[in-house]
Amino acid sequence: MIGQLNHVAIAVPELDTAIALYRDTLGAEVGAPQDEPDHGVTVVFITLPNTKIELLYPLGENSPITGFLAKNPAGGIHHICYEVEDILAARDKLKADGARVLGGGEPKIGAHGKPVLFLHPKDFTGTLIELEQV
Ligand code: CO
Repeated sequence: MIGQLNHVAIAVPELDTAIALYRDTLGAEVGAPQDEPDHGVTVVFITLPNTKIELLYPLGENSPITGFLAKNPAGGIHHICYEVEDILAARDKLKADGARVLGGGEPKIGAHGKPVLFLHPKDFTGTLIELEQV
């Protein structure tokens, strides 16, 4: 069901430091920060030859990243995103198999303008998983 790894998202406590680390120290292609108010994050896309990295930084009062950074003050991997061809079919199969789909189970439009869903980390070996329809 799952296809390619679309991205790995890393929550960071200081955006400028993380941008410099990826751009200057690691020599990656780093985009400009984009505010995503609907998701409570500022996102920086890093393009690698075979996948993407997304740096996530809290935006606004109720950012989903704030609690994560409180538990992980140095930052850390927040979620990984797998591509699926049909997000509703994927959701229905996962729910039938007993997995918890977050946010009521209705896909939202993600940072790439495509439908996404998140799966409960406790059902997937401690990893928050995002599915993106491509
Ligand atoms: Co993501």
